[in-house]
Amino acid sequence: MYKSAKIIRKEFLDYFSTELNHKIIPSSSVIPWCDSSVAFINAGMNQLKGIFLGKEEAPGGRLVNCQKCIRVGGKHNDLKDVGLDTYHHTFFEMLGNWSFGSYSKEEACRYAWRALTELYGINRSINLFVTYFGGDQEMQIAPDLETRDVWRNIGLPDDKIRACGAKDNFWEMDLTGPCGPCTEIHFDAAGSGNNLTELWNIVFIDHQRLTDGGVVPLGRQFIDTGMGLERLVALLQNKNSNYDTDLFQPLFQAIHKSSGAPEYAGKFGDQATLDTAYRVLADHARMVTVALSDGSIPDKNQKLRRVLRRATSLAIDTFGNNDLLTELTNHVAESLGDVYPEIQDNLKKIQVITNYEKELLISQRKSTGEAWKTLLKMNPRLSTINDPYSPGIIKAYTKLMKLKSKSSNFVALSGKEAFKIYDSHGLDLEAIKELAEVEGIKVDDEGFFKEMEMVRITSRAGKQTNRRVVAKKTLEQLKVLPQTDDSFKYQYAFDDKYTFSPLECSIIGVVIDGELETKSIKLTENQLNNSEIALILNQTPFYASEGGQLSDQGIIKLKNSLFKVSVVEKSEGYVLHYGTFDSPVEVNNKNKKVTAKIDSERRVNLMMHHTATHLLNAGLRKIFPAVAQRISVVTPLDLIFRFSTFGKKFSPQHCQELDSLVNKCINQNLDVKTEGISSLELMNQKNLTLIPGEVYPDTGLRVVDVDGELKSREACCGTHVHNTGVLKNFCITEVHPKSSHDYLIKAVTGPQAKNAKTKTQLNYLVDVKGKNDKKEIIIDFMKSEIERAVEKSDGCVIHCMKSNDIEPESVPLQLAYNYCDNLPMFLIVMSKKKIRARCFVPKEFQSTYFNAKLWMESINKVLPVELGTFGDEDPLSTSHIKIVRTSKDKIENQAEEAAAEAEKFAALYFKKLKIKKNN
Ligand code: SER
Repeated sequence: MYKSAKIIRKEFLDYFSTELNHKIIPSSSVIPWCDSSVAFINAGMNQLKGIFLGKEEAPGGRLVNCQKCIRVGGKHNDLKDVGLDTYHHTFFEMLGNWSFGSYSKEEACRYAWRALTELYGINRSINLFVTYFGGDQEMQIAPDLETRDVWRNIGLPDDKIRACGAKDNFWEMDLTGPCGPCTEIHFDAAGSGNNLTELWNIVFIDHQRLTDGGVVPLGRQFIDTGMGLERLVALLQNKNSNYDTDLFQPLFQAIHKSSGAPEYAGKFGDQATLDTAYRVLADHARMVTVALSDGSIPDKNQKLRRVLRRATSLAIDTFGNNDLLTELTNHVAESLGDVYPEIQDNLKKIQVITNYEKELLISQRKSTGEAWKTLLKMNPRLSTINDPYSPGIIKAYTKLMKLKSKSSNFVALSGKEAFKIYDSHGLDLEAIKELAEVEGIKVDDEGFFKEMEMVRITSRAGKQTNRRVVAKKTLEQLKVLPQTDDSFKYQYAFDDKYTFSPLECSIIGVVIDGELETKSIKLTENQLNNSEIALILNQTPFYASEGGQLSDQGIIKLKNSLFKVSVVEKSEGYVLHYGTFDSPVEVNNKNKKVTAKIDSERRVNLMMHHTATHLLNAGLRKIFPAVAQRISVVTPLDLIFRFSTFGKKFSPQHCQELDSLVNKCINQNLDVKTEGISSLELMNQKNLTLIPGEVYPDTGLRVVDVDGELKSREACCGTHVHNTGVLKNFCITEVHPKSSHDYLIKAVTGPQAKNAKTKTQLNYLVDVKGKNDKKEIIIDFMKSEIERAVEKSDGCVIHCMKSNDIEPESVPLQLAYNYCDNLPMFLIVMSKKKIRARCFVPKEFQSTYFNAKLWMESINKVLPVELGTFGDEDPLSTSHIKIVRTSKDKIENQAEEAAAEAEKFAALYFKKLKIKKNN
């Protein structure tokens, strides 16, 4: 009887939940929000990692789920094999069941065996084989004979039970993390045992792999099982390939229909280029849809960008439909949306991003295309590179060649060097390895990850103590002390106004110019005047700068002196209060007891601006389908928020809408609720705002919640007001376009916002109209327009800037040349009724046929006005026409025609010139 994938998935969950009393847990997000050790969730057990390591309580003794998994990097990387065989995928679903002390090896094996042979009816005597762990000398772990005997008791003959080494039967989550021996159930269609396909992996998690490479026992044993849904479905639907199941077929049909390409024929091997492309595109469309729906974004996750670009390239080059990937996301949502509703909920966002990335790829192809072609001519082996348009690839390759030229026998790239390339050129490890492979160079993967970890640790230390990089030695020394309890930062009362009680604390260390002193210390006059001093307390009410919120200020009162705190930072769990003593002091046992008191006014202002930041963020998400937070800074005076809208324009109307959304929320007097949340809960939240690329701590997490005109639920360590009404007013004071797709907003709240309202909000419009001194916003506007045009250009930039709010005469076109990469550029600026134009031609492109003067003359028949050059400018290099006033209904056409004329002229002479130059 035919069973659909949906039924097979459901039967698995029903079997474990109804018959065997397991609790169903939802699939977590595929983004490991609290775990930097993996790029994506790669197994059902990832969300349970904290439980295996004893950091969290299990939500039940018996659990079951179907987990979205992505394997594109680290220990489990299937990317290279995708499309080439019948069963490797970047995205797949894993069916799994777990026991946390509820059952042992024997039950785990019996449950799995019964499911396969009775529930799914697989022929036990012919097709199923099992393996068990045969022991490992290096790790000093004995063979798992107990499991061998379990299979014997179940009734398997010895010729169907095989022992394997650690490579096959010791499962590890990644380079670090929970691990243990496993037993696998395999299928062989022929029944000979020569062609085994792994079906179900039953892991006995009882060890942990540490960062230093050591494997240590956990002291407890857990059951963690996993079975790839796609493989099971293929088997039960009697198909030789996962791609022939109902999980992939609808995608193939959609590709065929939209592209007109011949239908998928299921062929493999060198001659099956089209079928391989079908498989890769369908696989990648699933991965991209799921990763984006869970909140990953391509510029924060190179692996995602790589998969997305490969899919986009296939859509464009092989299937001839630029929008095919975006279209396929609809079909993925149809196939998986009922099991994972977050895909449907985020479909618009997913499509905005896939579309934006497509545009980006097309423009990058134009800009790096020529350079890549030249490289390819020099070294045709580079044609194996998957994504030759990855930003930074040419620079990375040049660097690699430089290293190679330095030594006659350069065959290995160290982890440190590979990391340097990754860090400076933004290329991921896989792409670096591809480039290196072309040159016969091996890359030290492990060294790369070690270096990455090292840099992460030092940069964390550096960031948190950025006023002075506390020497590593000092951080080590700190470890002998208990960490600072700073939970008091969240304790405050509101009764008409906020009150923050002083806190009795003890000094546990003094840091002077980066050196830690934990015993008594007498500060000299010189140190008082010239050294940087920080006090470390056992507990503190001070908020250390974190999550974009600036730190508290205040005082620490000692017996006979006062320490004025100006900056507070946190490092490795210790809170360092930087400041100055008002008089000479000796810190010793007698005056270690102190009273710490924060500056309430500053704190309240910080809290207000932090809550306002959350409302602003929620407002942006209401207005735009896709928003990525780039930078957030919360100060007592204002808030600064930089974000991307993935190519969608942020207009003055949007600004007003946002302003009014936040103010409505304030007028609704909504409670701002804050609650603690475990990392497991965080992984399962569907409507939580998290910052892509951020790794959250796995303990002490909080969620801040506002539910009204705007719905805001953000993971946040900051301090907030208890009710939106406290903010009274909110006003956006500045908006700066930062590049073609980023914007920066400044806003204020509280009484100052009321005053700022009319004045400053008008100012924003005045700024844009250029009637104000602030030219910065116009330069930013011009710059972003030019940058976008340069990205799209084919060696010659022709662009028309349109704005209803910016008058052409206020645009400093004479500066435009700074942003156009030394390319010939023709710029037209138009508002409602006025047009202006200016062009530039660099020396090396000038000739008797092509120069600035002639180029500007080419639009003369459309805009018959006099040409000009300023002062001592060279007319061959630059030329302009002054303002042309025209009517509202003609202006669009005139601007377009002028651009078309300029383009025609450039096409005639510029191309000629290029050919001449190339020769
Ligand atoms: N964690 C194991 C695996 O991924 C079993 O679920 O194979």
